[in-house]
Amino acid sequence: MSTAPAQYTGYAALTEEKGKKLELEKWSYTPKQWTEDDVDIKVDCCGMCGSCIHTLTNGWPQPTSYPCIAGHEVVGTIVRAGSRTSHKVGTRVGVGAQGGSCLECDYCKQGLQQHCEKGLIMTYQGTWEDGSVAQGGYADFMRCRGALAVPIPDGLESETTAPLLCAGVTVYAPLKRFNAGPGKRVGVIGIGGLGHLALQIAKAMGAEVYALSHSASKMDDAEKLGCPRENFIVAKDQDEVRKKYNKHFDILILTSSSNDIPLEGLYLPLLRNMGTFVICGLPEEKLPSMYGQMLVYKSINLAGSLIGGSSEIAELFDLALKHDIKAWVETRPMSEVTQTAHDMHAGKSRYRYVLKN
Ligand SMILES: NC(=O)c1ccc[n+]([C@@H]2O[C@H](COP(=O)([O-])OP(=O)(O)OC[C@H]3O[C@@H](n4cnc5c(N)ncnc54)[C@H](OP(=O)(O)O)[C@@H]3O)[C@@H](O)[C@H]2O)c1
Ligand SMILES: [Zn+2]
Ligand SMILES: [Zn+2]
Repeated sequence: MSTAPAQYTGYAALTEEKGKKLELEKWSYTPKQWTEDDVDIKVDCCGMCGSCIHTLTNGWPQPTSYPCIAGHEVVGTIVRAGSRTSHKVGTRVGVGAQGGSCLECDYCKQGLQQHCEKGLIMTYQGTWEDGSVAQGGYADFMRCRGALAVPIPDGLESETTAPLLCAGVTVYAPLKRFNAGPGKRVGVIGIGGLGHLALQIAKAMGAEVYALSHSASKMDDAEKLGCPRENFIVAKDQDEVRKKYNKHFDILILTSSSNDIPLEGLYLPLLRNMGTFVICGLPEEKLPSMYGQMLVYKSINLAGSLIGGSSEIAELFDLALKHDIKAWVETRPMSEVTQTAHDMHAGKSRYRYVLKN
């Protein structure tokens, strides 16, 4: 078992200009100061999330701090385990978008660290207690809190499990919270990394599953992912879709990163009374404005959902084992991260790129 070196090496956007061009270069950094709550992980593979692209290109309102090594769907092996963690060297673990939290508040104790009262430390771009900026999994090694490294059961393969750590748990958590299950109609808007897992997870939960996509090109795939052909909706002609599916859905889950979110013109009319619209996708523009009546007259819940904590990831692993939930991945060498980021940005991913060391 190799131990972690003094410096870790990954692929970073070094400046904002390079980030905008998705030009990622080899860069070494000194990890945060070690504490006995931490683990060091030798990275085996890491999925590329839509959020990585928004962050690298500085597309979101909160500015990116450069250099930035992205990657928060990390699978690897523990090479050093802090004495206050429950880990052993040699354990295969996964780390999602949360790399650190206080470990003491009520949320942390429940394994819902994404809501840590003292503030979540994101896997990359978070700020550690020593002031250093966290760096992600497009790298050889990573250091994070042991509590956020979730052991991966033997029956799950690393590459197809990595995307469960962010994409998967991000859709699992709200589907669970809003009781997706038998007798419920769930519509997944945007069939990408998050969306293709949402179809599988909603199906596993027993819901009636629909896909809303901006073209017909993913219909065959969606069928294999659990959405019957007749439930595949091309959301182009809004009037037609609105007529056919008026008040049809119990839950609509937005996983698209398109800036165009026709809440008033399309999505909210499709919800039943007391239905729920959950926002997971985080486009770079603001939501459209609308009258309160759009929500009030049907008593609609407008919700958001942020990733998922260690307890939800562990639950998702169990569900994945039971229902054979796997991300559809294209695995590429880590050294091809720049080309991969370009392909992801161009919308070519079917449905997750996973970079392998
Ligand atoms: N809430 C959270 O905690 C959380 C966690 C992870 C990611 N996210 C966010 O979720 C979003 C999706 O992430 P992802 O990894 O699933 O991305 P992705 O694989 O690129 O999928 C995005 C999907 O959005 C749809 N889309 C429609 N119009 C688009 C456009 N103009 N540009 C880009 N996509 C368009 C596409 O589906 P169709 O072809 O079917 O229309 C596409 O497959 C991102 O905004 C990401 O930041 C949020
Ligand atoms: Zn993510
Ligand atoms: Zn906490």
